[in-house]
Amino acid sequence: MNPLLAKANWMARDDIRPYVFVRPENQIAQPGSVHRLNWFQQEPIFKDPLDISELAFADRLYSLEERAFGPSNMAMPRWVFYDCAVMPGFVAGFAAKPSALSKEMREALDPQKFPATGSPIKTSSVLKEVTSLDEMDWIPLSLFIIIPTMHKGEWVAHNLCSVNSLVPEGQGFYGLGFLSKAFGLWYANVDQCSGMTQWGSPALKLHSHYGHLEVIGAYAPVHSHAKTITYRVQVNTNCWEKFFNKEPDLAFLENYGPTGTFIDPKSEESMLDFQKRIERSEGPFFLSAGEIAQKKLDEKLMIYNLKQQY
Ligand SMILES: CC(C)(COP(=O)(O)OP(=O)(O)OC[C@H]1O[C@@H](n2cnc3c(N)ncnc32)[C@H](O)[C@@H]1OP(=O)(O)O)[C@@H](O)C(=O)NCCC(=O)NCCS
Repeated sequence: MNPLLAKANWMARDDIRPYVFVRPENQIAQPGSVHRLNWFQQEPIFKDPLDISELAFADRLYSLEERAFGPSNMAMPRWVFYDCAVMPGFVAGFAAKPSALSKEMREALDPQKFPATGSPIKTSSVLKEVTSLDEMDWIPLSLFIIIPTMHKGEWVAHNLCSVNSLVPEGQGFYGLGFLSKAFGLWYANVDQCSGMTQWGSPALKLHSHYGHLEVIGAYAPVHSHAKTITYRVQVNTNCWEKFFNKEPDLAFLENYGPTGTFIDPKSEESMLDFQKRIERSEGPFFLSAGEIAQKKLDEKLMIYNLKQQY
């Protein structure tokens, strides 16, 4: 294992493995062949979302996702998962054997004892039983969904969540969310990745570390949450280790300079102003992963643009 992953030593355990939840036709032909990286040595667990005998795995994904996104009112309906993720896309993350779960994780994951919405998760009307954690071979701890787009080479990151957000601070597996997306991008040979998240979300600390983050939308009234940033990165694994070692990204500093203007994640007006600048083609504009990592979630962020090339 790469020494940089020392902060995520759970990656070396045999009872935690990456998983791939994908319908057979969407399987990646030559996984992990584009990005040079030795982080993901373990053979992934394969699960077929169209195989009814694997329904318990999908139910656990829904349950995790519902708890992670319920507070922001963005829990994913089952039909969205099926129509917009499983059919066109690819789902990946990490899964654990029941023996690997701490008491805190069991409490966070168990949908019968700890329902997020006051009622147990719904399974198929044919298969009413909710499989208990100890009856499962592998239990998903995180979820990353990516969907290919009509724009060749570009994928959309549709969903990312991890059990870390449901357990008390320090009781999770450090880097689980970050490494779930990293694994999915690496495995599926993703070259360009777009995505959406809400201004002020901790997720921006993760999303900005997969490649230099261009802001392609700063305000999204078409979305149910208008205060959404839409971004795009050219996937670059040189940036990934900086998430762990916090070293400055010299390539970013070399290529981009501060515009002297900021985006304020607390101000809708600031988002709208930024959006108008993007629409007037004054960009491209970027955010600095190093700066996002250092700042509090609600602090203003410097907007960067490309340095003049002489
Ligand atoms: C956002 C999310 C995916 C992050 O995954 P995670 O497994 O908790 O995070 P990781 O362990 O991979 O990364 C830890 C880093 O994330 C940041 N982070 C995670 N949660 C944070 C929080 N609540 N506040 C501030 N920073 C946070 C920190 O920077 C931390 O690194 P550091 O301590 O070295 O600075 C997870 O919290 C989650 O599922 N949230 C709910 C759903 C959601 O909002 N998803 C994102 C939608 S785009």
